[in-house]
Amino acid sequence: MKVLAIESSCDETSAAVVCDSENPENRILSNVIKSQIAVHAKYGGVVPEIAARNHIDVIDVVIEEALEQAGEELRTVDVVAATAGPGLIGGLLVGMVTAKTLAMMNRKPFMAINHLEGHLLTPRLCYDVEFPHLLLLASGGHCFFSEIFGVGQYKILGQSLDDAAGEAFDKVAKMLGLKYPGGPAIERIAKNGDSSRFQYTIPMQRRSGCDVSFSGIKTATRTHIASLETLSDQDRADISASFQRIVVTHLTNKLRVAYQMTKSKPKNIVVAGGVAANQALRMAITGICDRKRINFTAPPLGLCSDNAAMIGWAAIERLRSGFASSSLNVKTRPRWPIDEINP
Ligand code: KG4
Ligand code: ZN
Repeated sequence: MKVLAIESSCDETSAAVVCDSENPENRILSNVIKSQIAVHAKYGGVVPEIAARNHIDVIDVVIEEALEQAGEELRTVDVVAATAGPGLIGGLLVGMVTAKTLAMMNRKPFMAINHLEGHLLTPRLCYDVEFPHLLLLASGGHCFFSEIFGVGQYKILGQSLDDAAGEAFDKVAKMLGLKYPGGPAIERIAKNGDSSRFQYTIPMQRRSGCDVSFSGIKTATRTHIASLETLSDQDRADISASFQRIVVTHLTNKLRVAYQMTKSKPKNIVVAGGVAANQALRMAITGICDRKRINFTAPPLGLCSDNAAMIGWAAIERLRSGFASSSLNVKTRPRWPIDEINP
């Protein structure tokens, strides 16, 4: 089975051809990602209308490139898939209308895919990792822990009560005058920083359950910055290192709680989403997993952030698990929680 997939929910226009090979290394036949980061960087974040127009401008070329790199044509793929939500409505419409048109004209089944499901099945796209899993999904728009029993069977154990983890990285980066997206920028300069220089209180420590919160960390960072007369490069590095350390501590503390809350006591912990690219976070979770003697699976860095290969793979997983293809009448869903995923 070969799927042509399109992802356009935020600021990357991406198209991929993915197949259901037994060998994970052979599954991604192409994965073309055209990032709009440079376009949005000067605004310090994604501007939805500009994003939508940029998707329109490049989507046909991105699809052509994906087919060409895979050595496929529209008539040789079996399924066309697109992200239906959650995400920015303008971008979602561009991807969905394009995918539906291609599916209709070429008489192929169409699959409307939840973007979060794309992220959370990425570890299985890349490696042979069995269900059940405990998942930490941390991206620019979402942050939650979920027990994954199988394809389409996702129980939310806890989630952010305010910002997503990536959003916190982006906002703190903006306070420090660093470029969007903030996560990679903070991680880079944190390497030269002293993570013990600025003090933070770990959020939600006395609260049971595994919900998380980043607003207090953000406010504390603003206060730390305000306490300095000027902001030197060393100050920026120290704040970045201290901020990253508290975020990692908070997420890993709550990951331990999330594990205790699982019914299946899974042998696999997986991470997904843009923030899963963060090495400090990956190392901290590796430590927890080693002590618990369970496996830790994180996608390769390039597949943590938004891409169409994960959408194509989610389509394959759903079809293989017996879910039907989507009607061409299915609508975009700018808000689409993962536990409301099945029709
Ligand atoms: O999954 P993603 O590409 O898009 C969404 O679906 O939101 O995640 C993007 C987010 C951004 O907030 C970005 O700052 C963050 O992931 N991010 C990181 C790193 N790389 C990307 N955060 C921390 N450390 C990183 N290395
Ligand atoms: Zn994403």
